[in-house]
Amino acid sequence: MRIGVLTGGGDCPGLNAVIRAVVRKGVVVHGFEFIGFRNGWAGVLENNGVAMDVENTRGLLHRGGTILGTSRTNPYKQGDGTEAVRKTLADRGVDALIPIGGDDTLGVAKRLTAEGVPCVGVPKTIDNDLGGTDYTFGFWTAVQIATEAIDRLHTTAESHNRVIVVEVMGRHAGWIALHAGVAGGADVILIPEEPFDIDHVCDVLRQRHETGKTFSIVVVAEGAVPKDGEITSSSGEVDAFGHVRLGGVARWLQEEIKSRTRYDTRETILGHTQRGGTPLAYDRVLATRFGLAAVDAVATKQFGKMVALRATGIELVPMEEALAAPKLVTPELYAEPGVFFGRG
Ligand code: F6P
Repeated sequence: MRIGVLTGGGDCPGLNAVIRAVVRKGVVVHGFEFIGFRNGWAGVLENNGVAMDVENTRGLLHRGGTILGTSRTNPYKQGDGTEAVRKTLADRGVDALIPIGGDDTLGVAKRLTAEGVPCVGVPKTIDNDLGGTDYTFGFWTAVQIATEAIDRLHTTAESHNRVIVVEVMGRHAGWIALHAGVAGGADVILIPEEPFDIDHVCDVLRQRHETGKTFSIVVVAEGAVPKDGEITSSSGEVDAFGHVRLGGVARWLQEEIKSRTRYDTRETILGHTQRGGTPLAYDRVLATRFGLAAVDAVATKQFGKMVALRATGIELVPMEEALAAPKLVTPELYAEPGVFFGRG
């Protein structure tokens, strides 16, 4: 059997660990051959792929990014998308695909499987907002990076008696903001799931500063919105899946907090730092387990399924179920550490 592998959407620490595991077990245990398509679905559309084997996928475990490259290409938005996919797979003699990606990449995989192109999905996003799985690899690495940044911002905020607003990734869900905020000892955490009240945010900061504290840290997810306000996009750009490029809510908050409270306020946008570099041990292990399970699922023809972490076990869930709705922070989870935090 010959299998195509691709990585789509935003990159994520652990992608290379998945590729390594898929190829290692696929070759050694199942006797499969592999083609790695470059730059996500773009490589399939353009028939741009390279043979992968045990030798050329060695040494990848600790490497961030993806050796295959990635993109947000949507085959269904590009002319005869499905036909081009079928043609490449026929040309290359590819029997099945293992797409590694988030809701957009796996949404394409789900549709292709329904149209007769067999796929097994591997869930990936630092945002951790994909349904069906308790965690996606890359998430805890992003949380660790954001936490280390918050630790550093704490000391400079304290030295200068400032409020620092830290913007982290999280389009639909505040998983990174909540976890890094808790771990970093933030004073306010704002997430997309609960529109925030800027007056309340300022009240929380005032209360803190009135009891003698001279600095504060506000952690905000890029997709957080003020009540009666709109999502912030500094560029207005939209990708092939219709997502507007986010970013800039921290600047808006910084200006509002400064003008309302008169506290010296600064903003820091962590951006792609959160997706770069080497994965934590946890994410290397999860990515490896996902890769091993995905190639086994191809061997047993479990097409249309996605590998998933449920408690401590790796299971297969229908892509349909996993993609039905994003996995959001619940009100209960957001409220849990409330004694430490002000909230929107
Ligand atoms: O992959 C999801 C994500 O990390 C979002 O949190 C963020 O909005 C987006 O990627 C940024 O993507 P890009 O690198 O394409 O700007």
